[in-house]
Parts: sequence; structure tokens; C-alpha cells
Amino acid sequence: MKSVLVVGGAGYIGSHMVLCLQQAGIHVVVLDDLSSGHKEAIENCDLVQGDLGDRALLSQLFKQYQFDAVMHFAAFIQVGESVQKPAMYYDNNVVKTLSLLDTMRDHGILNFIFSSTAAVYGEPQYTPIDVEHPKAPVNPYGRSKWMLEQILDDYDAAYGLKSTCLRYFNAAGADAKGRTGECHDPETHLIPLILQTAAGKRESISVFGRDYDTPDGTCLRDYVHVSDLCDAHLLALTHMMKTRKSARYNLGNGQGFSVQQVIEAAANVTGRKIKVVDAERREGDPARLIADATLAEKELGWQPKFADLKTIIEHAWRWEMRGE
Ligand code: UFG
Repeated sequence: MKSVLVVGGAGYIGSHMVLCLQQAGIHVVVLDDLSSGHKEAIENCDLVQGDLGDRALLSQLFKQYQFDAVMHFAAFIQVGESVQKPAMYYDNNVVKTLSLLDTMRDHGILNFIFSSTAAVYGEPQYTPIDVEHPKAPVNPYGRSKWMLEQILDDYDAAYGLKSTCLRYFNAAGADAKGRTGECHDPETHLIPLILQTAAGKRESISVFGRDYDTPDGTCLRDYVHVSDLCDAHLLALTHMMKTRKSARYNLGNGQGFSVQQVIEAAANVTGRKIKVVDAERREGDPARLIADATLAEKELGWQPKFADLKTIIEHAWRWEMRGE
């Protein structure tokens, strides 16, 4: 494998993916509209600023470079926003992604790695959640991802376009060498919000509900290190190019931590006092989301390097405190 187009490569997970591909000696081109990505997040690769729905631009890129595969990280990801603005989510996450796929087909590029999500399962019927778990997304964000997964099945059957869909649980942490990290605006994810509170950039962290059916009443999530996610992408691409088969995997560590446990772990890592405020439940939050990722371990040989929560938080904290 020589060259990969990373769409959304200037974003949180995309910028870690660029590092991972470069480490493997693969040439990387990034396409990003920089609406939420950051130019500074990537180095030593060609950055093309543009829209993933721009077919003329994509055609030009596909002619200019000989890509073996495309990885797609340029989705909108906020569940709440997707409920308020479904048109925007379906346009970006489905319609524009379709034009990316069709332009790929036009140019004979038939390998696609797709960022999917635990949100395709909706409210879990059992945990840990394996890939066979029924798909019943409960918001436009999850539905947009599930629609794309189904479209990808049809594109494989009809056009031989191979895809691997990786269903992330809770992506967290930052590059171990501090080269990139999480920078969402607005930030809605638990770990960066807790660390911003520890750093004095926020007054307090709200705990969204303490009355869930979990040991301490707060929600359980499966936090997985962003660099481990990226390792899985590279393994998945290599595997798919060898087997010529499409696949779907869950990516998580198989262990749930409660919101309260994450706050305590962050207090230990940072040595700071973190002001906690109890708040109402956030709409659409399942009590527990825990992955059964054994398929990725078995088929891809995926072994997370940074599986413990303390390391994930340490790396995120180092990123949060960069330059201070
Ligand atoms: N939480 C708080 N306070 C906050 C922010 C979050 O208590 O200020 C809680 C949430 O209620 C949840 C947990 O912390 O219980 C984790 O919340 P995040 O927002 O960090 O992550 P989610 O589990 O909501 O989201 C993840 C992915 C989404 C995906 C979703 C599936 O980031 O892309 O899982 O439901 F859609």
C-alpha cells in the first residue's frame, strides 16, 4: 500500500490517523474543509482544503494521485445537534459521502474505511454489544451512519466497492508524543470537559444524571484510546486489501467506566480539584455502552496498547496542558 486519501484528516481522529499512516511509511493526502479541523494538527503531508461533496475537486485529486484507499473521518458527530438540524446531518453524512463514493467508483478506487459508531445500535438490548446486535439508532446522527453502512453493503454487491465500517465506542486520549489531540468547538465530550475544568478553563463539570441503573447511578461508557482506534484502521485496511472482503467491527476495550469513575480518575491524574455539579439526564443517553470487540481482535489481531483509563486520561491531560 502506497497512498491513502484521509478525508477529515485535520480533525481529532483523522489527525491521529495521519500520524499512524505516516509511521507505516504510507503517503498521505488530507482533504479537509477545516470547518472543525485544524491545519496545525497535521504535518508533512499534502493538505487540500475543500469539501468532500465537491466532485470536481475529488476527480482532480483522484487523477493526480494513485490512491489505494480512502478513509473517511469528515462526519458531523454531535447527537444533540443532529436532532435539531437533521438536514445538515443527512446532507453531510449521507449525501456528500455518496458523492465521494461515486467519484471513487468513477476512478476505480474500491477500498473504503468508514468511521461508524456505537450509536448505530441505539439503546442496547444486551451488553457487551457485539457486531450482530440489532441496529436501532435513536437519533439522526446514528441513523445517518447506519444508512451509510447499508449503502456500503449495496455498493459492494453491485460495484465491488469494499468497505470496512469501524464502530467506535468512546474515542478519547491523545497522541502519546503530544503531537495532536482533541480540539472540538464546542466541546461536548466528557473527558476533555473534565480536564478543562481541572485546568481552570471551566467552572465545573456537570454530571448528567445519577439515577441510572448502574452501580453508582452514572452512565457507563467504554473509553478507547484514539491511537488504538487508528491502529485498528490500518490493520483493517491491510486485511481488507488482502481478503477483498468488506467487514464491520466494534472498537472498544470491553470495560465500562462510570462518569463518576472518570471524574475520580481525572482528579488522581491531574492532582487538581474538579468541581462537580449534578444535572438532569441528557436526552438519548443509554445507561451503558460497552463493546464486545473480540471480532477485531480475532480477525485483525488488534490489541489496544493504551487500554487503561489512567493512561488515556494522562495523554489527554498532557495535550490539554500543552504550552503551559
Ligand atoms: N457526560 C456528562 N457531562 C458532560 C458530558 C458528558 O455527564 O458534560 C456524560 C454523558 O451523559 C455520557 C458520558 O458522559 O454518559 C459520555 O458522554 P460523551 O458526550 O463524552 O460521549 P457519548 O457517550 O455521548 O458519545 C459517544 C460518541 C458519539 C456516539 C455516542 C453513542 O462520542 O459519537 O457515544 O451514543 F454517538
